[in-house]
Amino acid sequence: MNDNRIPVGILGATGMVGQQFVTFLQNHPWFEIAWLGASDRSAGKPYCEATSWRLDGAMPTGVERLVVQECKPANAPRLMFSSMDASVATEIEREFAKAGHVIVSNSRNHRMEPDVPLLIPEVNPDHLKIIPHQQRLRGWKGQIATNPNCSTIVLALALAPLKQFGIQRVVATTMQAISGAGYPGVASMDINANVIPFIGNEEEKMQQETQKILGDFAGDRLLPLSAKVSAHCNRVPVVDGHTVTVSVEFDRKPSQDEIIRALVNYRSVPQERKLPSAPPQPIIYMEEKDRPQPRRDAERERGMAVFVGRMRECPVLDYKFVALGHNTIRGAAGAAVLNAELMYAEGLLD
Ligand SMILES: NC(=O)c1ccc[n+]([C@@H]2O[C@H](COP(=O)([O-])OP(=O)(O)OC[C@H]3O[C@@H](n4cnc5c(N)ncnc54)[C@H](OP(=O)(O)O)[C@@H]3O)[C@@H](O)[C@H]2O)c1
Repeated sequence: MNDNRIPVGILGATGMVGQQFVTFLQNHPWFEIAWLGASDRSAGKPYCEATSWRLDGAMPTGVERLVVQECKPANAPRLMFSSMDASVATEIEREFAKAGHVIVSNSRNHRMEPDVPLLIPEVNPDHLKIIPHQQRLRGWKGQIATNPNCSTIVLALALAPLKQFGIQRVVATTMQAISGAGYPGVASMDINANVIPFIGNEEEKMQQETQKILGDFAGDRLLPLSAKVSAHCNRVPVVDGHTVTVSVEFDRKPSQDEIIRALVNYRSVPQERKLPSAPPQPIIYMEEKDRPQPRRDAERERGMAVFVGRMRECPVLDYKFVALGHNTIRGAAGAAVLNAELMYAEGLLD
């Protein structure tokens, strides 16, 4: 282990995603948890008392005795992961960025702001170039970068290798795990043996975020992809792992072989730079006719890969397939940690 690890803090450390951060950052080769923050209900208590641990396995030992702080910039490390309740994230994240902190956020609050990167390190690492513009515009010494919504990341990562064929129209239907709603989430009386065909604002987020992520950096702006994206979002009785069925139409329809090869061979900056949390293969194409499945596949590759299968012709658009990703790892904490690794590798934490 490197003794010169960078101290990091977690805003919203007691919540579901906060707990994923704590777990995911255990034994990280570059980052070391030095500071934990939450609401004033938790501040002043040791982490083990402030937190109802909801993940499998015991709370990691290194953090148990850390005293939870109020989410105020004083004494916090420069690099801060954020997973605060969305009702408070806007102001607190801005306050930290203004005070010189690098905020790597999971919350939806700043994702669609034009000068804030909505980052998937494999897909749009160049969008980090908007940061100097953000700092100039807002007069900040610090900065905010965000990761996408947990279902968007599955769709956008699966579509990224196909951008070369000119994506025109996308129809995506999700089957989203209950852990995506935080704790306690959906009432068991509602979700047991049932499907709920509504998740507030989720369809709009998926549509707009996908266009932003797959768009281009144009000097001082991020231009969204002009493709039309239509999302149908459903909550299903699955614990972890969001499944998305996708139909897509292209400018230039590739052969089925070409499209599968593009997915299988997809590698990008995190793999080239060997970022510690990067999966060796960001997309794993499964040949089995009934895969991927959330219970069997979501946890593989430390929850950081997106699994794609069932590529076939679509009689309405060009092709259809299924994609799966771990919603609280690749869709939340793991995504943010990979973002911070890229920012570090790009010198943005100097
Ligand atoms: N669950 C997912 O799969 C998922 C995926 C992607 C993104 N997200 C986003 O990540 C964020 C956290 O989600 P979650 O499921 O982890 O929620 P959660 O379990 O409800 O946790 C919320 C966290 O925010 C803290 N908090 C609440 N009020 C605060 C305040 N006034 N000041 C400072 N901290 C405060 C809470 O601290 P206390 O314990 O002290 O109340 C807790 O640590 C949300 O913005 C959510 O939209 C969630």
